[in-house]
This record gives sequence, C-alpha cells and structure tokens, in this order.
Amino acid sequence: MEQTLVILKPGTVQRGLIGEVITRLERKGLRITAMKMAMLDDEILRQHYAHLVDRPFFPWLLASMKAAPVVLMCVEGKDAVDVVHKMAGATNGRKAEFGTIRGDYSLSGQENIIHTSDSVENARIELDRFFVASDYCCYEPVLTPFIYAPDEK
Ligand code: PPS
Repeated sequence: MEQTLVILKPGTVQRGLIGEVITRLERKGLRITAMKMAMLDDEILRQHYAHLVDRPFFPWLLASMKAAPVVLMCVEGKDAVDVVHKMAGATNGRKAEFGTIRGDYSLSGQENIIHTSDSVENARIELDRFFVASDYCCYEPVLTPFIYAPDEK
C-alpha cells in the first residue's frame, strides 16, 4: 500500500482538532502506521519547506510551524498520496471546497490545518525526514477485504 506524510499543524493542535482530522482519515478507510507529536525546529523546517525559502511569507511560515507541537503521521492506503492530498483541499482554506479538511476548518493559507505530501516521490522523502524504520507499526489490516476489491490491494 502507498504511504504518505500528514502533518497536523500547530493551529490544529491548539484548536483541539486533532481528533476531527484523524477521524476523517480513518472513516475514509486509510490506516495510520506511524504517529508522533513533536516540536519542529528551524533546521528541519528549512529542509521541509526548502522550495518556499524565497517566498515573502517564509518567516511567518516558520514561526507558525514552531508555535506549538505538530502531529506527524504516516497514512497508508491505495493511492494514499493523491487521496489524502485531495481530502486536504486547496492550500488556502478560504478557497478550498467545502467538504475538504481545509474547506471545513480553515480560513487561511497559512493556518490551514494539515500538510500532505504532493507526490509519491516527495512522500518518501518527507516520511524519511520525520520517521525512522522503527517508528512504523506493521499490523494485520483485518478490514482490507471490506475496504478494497481484490485487485485494488
Ligand atoms: S504554493 O504557493 O503553490 O507554493 O503553495 P504550496 O506548494 O501549496 O505550499 C505553500 C505552503 O506554504 C504555506 N503557507 C502559505 N502559502 C501561501 N500563502 C501564505 N501566506 C502562506 N503561509 C504559509 C502553506 O500552508 C503551504 O504549506 P503546506 O504545509 O505545504 O500545506
């Protein structure tokens, strides 16, 4: 099964929305196979958001991502990268469709609840940035036959 990185941002933790977002992922049928809470520092954030260093909002982005702990997760499922990215919705919560996570819980491009990997290649890089092999829990996915057809596994 495909794996993707999810970060529940500091605002999500402060607003008590961790459970709401995780519930949505679980109800979709996705599985969490690694999860931890952490304070992120400048070094790891500069790696994670390296493509945005020249953007005018970069200092605010760093401050926002260090303002409180985040929740980091590996989420697994068929086509999980694309599915989770679509569930998050457009970057700006004011423009994101209702029914998406950002569309339902955010009014901001910065305070937008969740980070999700945007490609399979980036998902691997991002997961390796935050997790080591021993962080992953391999457990029997007993509900798989009730979530996928045999040719979808
Ligand atoms: S962009 O604009 O196409 O590069 O957007 P994206 O690749 O989706 O990533 C933007 C990330 O930066 C965060 N951020 C902001 N985006 C836009 N405007 C402002 N002011 C801003 N501040 C922070 C945004 O939440 C995206 O974070 P991630 O964690 O990738 O979702």
